[in-house]
Amino acid sequence: MDSALDFHGLRALLQWQVELGVDEAIGDVPVNRYEAPAAAPKAVAPAAQKAVPLHAAPDAEAAARQAAEGANDLDALRAALAAYDHCELKRGARNLVFADGVPGARVMIIGEAPGREEDRAGRPFVGQAGKMLDRMLASIGLSREENVYITNILPWRPPQNADPKPGEIAMMRPFMQRHVELAAPEMVILVGNISCQAGLGERGITKLRGKWTEAWGKPALPMFHPAYLLRTPAAKRAAWADLLAVQARLRGDAS
Ligand code: URA
Repeated sequence: MDSALDFHGLRALLQWQVELGVDEAIGDVPVNRYEAPAAAPKAVAPAAQKAVPLHAAPDAEAAARQAAEGANDLDALRAALAAYDHCELKRGARNLVFADGVPGARVMIIGEAPGREEDRAGRPFVGQAGKMLDRMLASIGLSREENVYITNILPWRPPQNADPKPGEIAMMRPFMQRHVELAAPEMVILVGNISCQAGLGERGITKLRGKWTEAWGKPALPMFHPAYLLRTPAAKRAAWADLLAVQARLRGDAS
């Protein structure tokens, strides 16, 4: 039997489903899946994989690099971001959303950008997607209170939660490079396309997910974004496999 599906794996999977809100079996009679049509319906995949060139105005990128490299700790990096004036998103945002969790944790989650609730609270992942992320982390014994550090590529909310523009992502990359250096995790988890675009230079989370790679000098695992999992329950199976890969790596038995 696949080691991920031994007794403990199955029990953790069941526990995860309970944490996701599954509290009853649907239907009075069991469904014989062997009689179901062979091809299960496919989840609608997010945007296709493609390399995405990222360019910001040269002065914006140079200013970001200088500000980021001058920060010697996380407080200084937060202050450098707060003082950075080249990103239009800053003007429409209520708060700078810098990070949450435990600096120095072995795992650093990198999301996309704050939404409405994050913008209000000044903390990443506090809305519905954040609750989903917390449940995902809990399923492998992790939490932002104890052993995970969480941030986003964009520290300011894009209007109407629009996808950040390539120029905005590009100007934030030097800050993320420094953020990863200062937080010093053992691994980063890139949730969703925007963090893959920033960290790997490519999009296409459906193809990228589940394969260890490197971003900002650290082992990196792309995963589906929790907001996507909320919209696409069929993708939770893949997310579960990726969480087990993180757990295995933390235990020291991953490739
Ligand atoms: N989605 C993200 O990528 N980050 C947040 O902080 C909230 C939602």
